[in-house]
Amino acid sequence: MTIDIDWANLGFDYMKLPYRFIAHFKDGKWNDGEITEDATLHLSESSPALHYGQQAFEGLKAYRTKNDEIQLFRPDQNAERLQKTARRLLMAEVPTDFFIHAAKAVVKANLEYVPPYASGGSLYLRPLLIGAGDIIGIQPAKEYIFTIFAMPVGNYFKGGLAPTKFIVSRDFDRAAPHGTGAAKVGGNYAASLLPGYNAHEAGYSDVIYLDPATHTKIEEVGSANFFGITKDHEFVTPLSPSILPSITKYSLLYLAEKRLGLKAIEGDVPIDDLDRFSEAGACGTAAVISPIGAIQNGADYHVFYSETEVGPITHQLYNELVGIQKGDVEAPEGWIYKVELD
Ligand code: PLP
Ligand code: COI
Repeated sequence: MTIDIDWANLGFDYMKLPYRFIAHFKDGKWNDGEITEDATLHLSESSPALHYGQQAFEGLKAYRTKNDEIQLFRPDQNAERLQKTARRLLMAEVPTDFFIHAAKAVVKANLEYVPPYASGGSLYLRPLLIGAGDIIGIQPAKEYIFTIFAMPVGNYFKGGLAPTKFIVSRDFDRAAPHGTGAAKVGGNYAASLLPGYNAHEAGYSDVIYLDPATHTKIEEVGSANFFGITKDHEFVTPLSPSILPSITKYSLLYLAEKRLGLKAIEGDVPIDDLDRFSEAGACGTAAVISPIGAIQNGADYHVFYSETEVGPITHQLYNELVGIQKGDVEAPEGWIYKVELD
């Protein structure tokens, strides 16, 4: 390693790395794309991404193993989710092979920025798909840009595997009942900026959103999905058409059942029934597993396992998930994609 980075203290901040991948869709097809040093996008002032939010993004990570191999965690799932988002917004789809080829190319080009195994960091990849070109009416673009850039990251929430407090939003929803909540589009995040800002100002890590139709059930966190562990050891996570289908959440549902022997359930999580949980957490690519120490729900301040200690099942899930991601624990078939380094 020749670069000067404080690997152990990385947060979640943009860093302009030397290389990124970029491809263009025009006349009904993608070009081959290329690795470029140009970190600036060049696009028409009328691009539908800028005016009407016709854009989508993804997030996935590359990890350095103990043996200095580099591996991606379930990139095929990110590719498929981006395709689903693209269909919702009438965008050109990025084929899975092309997506994975681009992700590997970016990792390979920026290899020295993949944090060391022992640092606890990883290389976060940010795929971005945007509608471009000279269109001003409200209609889908005919041209698209697909890019993936990267940066080394550490913890998303303060402390990483340490409980923090979250607050329920009742004044604002992030998504409408039949809107774009299940798609990874920037508009959902634009809608979450104000409640997220208010939550941070008040000392909370993030917002817990309720189902937009009835405001009675937990949907998800602004940047991650929610899970709870019941007192009789069930792993429970909300099922809703307006939350982002988290790849981490589906991985945990599998691991909870197959590796920890828990009953794993996707179902309703009434906000007025938090007493059933002994532990709770937020899960996602950036958030990994972030224990939820307490939830402020109106006047009610509900503490789960502890505000300072990580619950035992949350800890086991974390060890299993992160162990797989870093290559220390055997992965279920098809979860790990090695980046060929020759
Ligand atoms: N929910 C939201 C709103 C997110 O932004 C993310 C992050 O991607 C997640 C959930 C977690 O999804 P994943 O585990 O696929 O990263
Ligand atoms: C991710 O975990 O990849 C996310 O997209 C969450 C947030 C950083 C937007």
